Amino acid sequence: MAILPIIKTGDPVLRRKNRELKPADLKKSSTRKLLKDMVETMRASGGVGLAASQVGVSVKAIVVECWSSKRYPGSDEFPLEIFINPKITAYSKKTVTDWEGCLSIPGYRGLVPRAHTITFTALEPDGKKIARTVSGFLARVIQHETDHTMGILFIDRMTDLSSFTCVMETE
Ligand code: NI
Repeated sequence: MAILPIIKTGDPVLRRKNRELKPADLKKSSTRKLLKDMVETMRASGGVGLAASQVGVSVKAIVVECWSSKRYPGSDEFPLEIFINPKITAYSKKTVTDWEGCLSIPGYRGLVPRAHTITFTALEPDGKKIARTVSGFLARVIQHETDHTMGILFIDRMTDLSSFTCVMETE
């Protein structure tokens, strides 16, 4: 496994629409290595999610994992999961506005409104199709990472840019 460099905002690769992975792609050793490296990179960076575009690969693949951490104290915890071709199919009317950051925009946070509950479909790494409904912090992270697969960053979702905050010196 390898820890990959994370692409930072301003690089056009973050703004590309990513292509879907086919079930045959999931059997390739290059895809398996990419997914393992994404997990390694997320963990090494202290992030709670990572999309393939953030390591320069324009395919729809995301990894998420959260254990209570210094970076996100008191957050809901969720185990490691890998989702291929995530697609959000339903959003709750109820939204929650909370702080968000991104490994591609290091040192900054902003308040972002997100649906409280979402339903999404995806493939698991073994190719099994799943549909899940999730709420709270995991729903926020899935929305953030799925946005990455479409070239969208959290700053695009902010409705009040005055909350954009430099937090580098507090970490
Ligand atoms: Ni991000």
